[in-house]
Amino acid sequence: MKILVINGPNINMLGIREPGVYGSQSFAQLQRLLNEWAQELGIEIEQFQSNHEGSIVDKIQAAYGNFDGIVINPAAYTHTSIAILDALKAVALPAVEVHISDVSAREDFRQISYAGMACIHTFMGLGLEGYHQAMIYLKNHLESR
Ligand code: DQA
Repeated sequence: MKILVINGPNINMLGIREPGVYGSQSFAQLQRLLNEWAQELGIEIEQFQSNHEGSIVDKIQAAYGNFDGIVINPAAYTHTSIAILDALKAVALPAVEVHISDVSAREDFRQISYAGMACIHTFMGLGLEGYHQAMIYLKNHLESR
């Protein structure tokens, strides 16, 4: 089982950016945790982070035929990107959305998630543990098909 884990803009700044919102763990720590969780769950993952919308679209397209599912935190593109929504719909791979913070309790402009419209589930407000929960959810989903 191969899962692509995508992180959008500014997620590479974890640990530095707004620690009161996103916590004090660094992006390198998140990358390590993702690999540990993958090993624990017996799944293969590839990690991808980009600050560029088109690069994320390219990566989602390239996942077609090469991955069984996607875990995605589109970060700010969550609330703006119809291109990422369309890419997720195009490849039609089961995708799970993650947000480190509880976006539902934040600004009005964060209340819409375009990417979420193509996802089977969303985890938010759980900190980095949300990625772990998303991997477990996706694994169970793929195994139950
Ligand atoms: C985020 C929430 C988004 O609104 C924000 O733009 C981010 C991170 C989160 O993980 O909580 O960059 O996706």
